[in-house]
Amino acid sequence: MTVVEQAPSTPRPVPVRIGGPRGGPPLSTVLRKDNWRLQPALTVLGLLGFIGYATWAALRNGDFYAGNVGRDYLSPFYSPCLTHSCATNGYAWSDWSWWRVSPAFLILVFPGAFRATCYYYRKAYYRSFWMSPPACAVPDAGSTKPSGIRTKYTGETRLPLILNNVHRYTWYFAVVFAGILTWDAIAAFRFSGSVGVGVGTLIFVVNAAFIWAYTLGCHACRHLCGGGVKKLSEAPIRHWFWKNISNGLNAHHQLWAWCSLFSIIFTDLYTYLVASGTITDPKIF
Ligand code: FES
Repeated sequence: MTVVEQAPSTPRPVPVRIGGPRGGPPLSTVLRKDNWRLQPALTVLGLLGFIGYATWAALRNGDFYAGNVGRDYLSPFYSPCLTHSCATNGYAWSDWSWWRVSPAFLILVFPGAFRATCYYYRKAYYRSFWMSPPACAVPDAGSTKPSGIRTKYTGETRLPLILNNVHRYTWYFAVVFAGILTWDAIAAFRFSGSVGVGVGTLIFVVNAAFIWAYTLGCHACRHLCGGGVKKLSEAPIRHWFWKNISNGLNAHHQLWAWCSLFSIIFTDLYTYLVASGTITDPKIF
């Protein structure tokens, strides 16, 4: 538990208001005794690691489908398969020969927009990258500057942050992608003319489960279920969805955000290793 000692000399907190000064006590007077720098540092490492891996995976433009070794494993970075380069593997939703660069770039823009505008990730990168503020009861980085655009608190009222308001719309795309990844998990049970379960099959199923847990736990989904209802007791079905999404998924949204992020990496890496012949996918039954 975070410990903040109260002392008579503690500066009064600066109220947060649009156009007002950025808040927080001077760094020299922070009374937190715990290692409050650790969480933002880990978040920076995790998000930069994902961005680095996703960039490599998208530029790789190969070994994203394991059909060559008798497995219907398709990397989530390349799903759905839309271009000519996917069609050559015999597993494609389309055959766009006019698309010349990596098909991953067609895909990543949608889940990328969904995650970049997610309420949890916003908190994560505001705190970790912009230190705005980096943690509770420590100063906003902008409040320590003598002048400049970050000395005033503007919230999400200006470009580019105002664009974060599109989050509720990106959710609909995210649902479509969760459905496609579910289809990929079902396809992962196909083994060259038969049905089976390999280690990769389990990885794809777990990945789809994490993606659904993250997507359905979205605050926009929660609002869709229970928002605008004056009396939930008179809307039992919506109440049931709102209650279960709130308690089961939304309450742990941060956890599902990280689990799904790592499972995407792991699923792509496993597919790459199997497709490139680096490892053999063990068949369980
Ligand atoms: S709030 Fe995180 S996905 Fe919508």
